[in-house]
Amino acid sequence: MVITVSMNPAIDKTVDIPCLQPGGLNRISRVEYDAGGKGINVSKTIRELGGESIAMGFLGGNAGKTIENVLNEKQIRHDFIWVNGETRTNTKVFETNGAVTELNEPGPVITKEQVGALLEKLSGYAAENTLFILAGSIPNSVDKDIYARITRLVHEQGAKVLMDADGELFRNALAAGPDMIKPNRVELEEYAGFDYRASDEELFHIAKKLMEEGVRTAAVSMGKSGAMFVRPGYAVKCPALSVKAHSTVGAGDAMVAALAYAWDQKLGDEETVRLCMAASAGAVTTVGTKPPARELVDSLMEQVIIEKMEDQSL
Ligand SMILES: Nc1ncnc2c1ncn2[C@@H]1O[C@H](COP(=O)(O)OP(=O)(O)OP(=O)(O)O)[C@@H](O)[C@H]1O
Ligand SMILES: [Mg+2]
Repeated sequence: MVITVSMNPAIDKTVDIPCLQPGGLNRISRVEYDAGGKGINVSKTIRELGGESIAMGFLGGNAGKTIENVLNEKQIRHDFIWVNGETRTNTKVFETNGAVTELNEPGPVITKEQVGALLEKLSGYAAENTLFILAGSIPNSVDKDIYARITRLVHEQGAKVLMDADGELFRNALAAGPDMIKPNRVELEEYAGFDYRASDEELFHIAKKLMEEGVRTAAVSMGKSGAMFVRPGYAVKCPALSVKAHSTVGAGDAMVAALAYAWDQKLGDEETVRLCMAASAGAVTTVGTKPPARELVDSLMEQVIIEKMEDQSL
């Protein structure tokens, strides 16, 4: 069973305005709402791939209800802690000239008691066949070591953790030894203190070092340069698939979803890599963070090229 943890979910609101007039009346020509946040996006993609997950975390107010409705419609199981205040609505204003203005809400304040209640709930699901996905940012009111705490807690019951976060959250969570990680190039460079663009060899070296922290699978995504997959005894690199790019936002989330689905279905290394490359490339062809259709992912899987990395000394 896969569980996605959304500490800070959001409704993504997209509005079109011909030309934004600051300080004036702006008439919206088109508006669209979607349930978002990394955890929710991962749950949606797992569903599209044909798998199951339970979406957990915090929800509040009418925006929270809307997210719950979307999950119900898509037949995604969920078990959230309800909090006072309103789940975030993040607005993206698109102008005809291509300019995008973002307006992000702060989201509800989460108390220590509510964090405690979430930990207890998560712990109730933790077992050897459970994978927890800790992805995305957290509310300001929550301590930056929360992913490390969850990792330690669920590890006690034999559960696994897939972590996709950046900065301090990433660094702190690593100390608790997550089983799988999916950093992108920049996140890994930042972590390693590089102030220049790392070569593939350098990224591979950092990924190998992370194995010493307890990581068992590192999927390093490199945008349109593809991805690298490193685990003990297995290290490969794949060029990105050639697809018509529409929106690269959420491509990383699709890769996280594919990794989790593959783990749940006990797929082998090669099939896992193919699925990760195909799902993420498929996500690039869709609008916003909309998951790619399973049929498209299946056809893209056949096109994945897997190159062994030189150094297999793991
Ligand atoms: N232009 C592209 N063409 C084909 N595949 C792409 C392209 N951009 C990204 N991908 C695929 O998606 C994967 C993840 O992309 P990326 O490294 O940008 O993730 P990310 O920065 O974590 O994204 P996000 O956090 O916005 O979801 C890449 O490894 C690659 O397989
Ligand atoms: Mg990412």
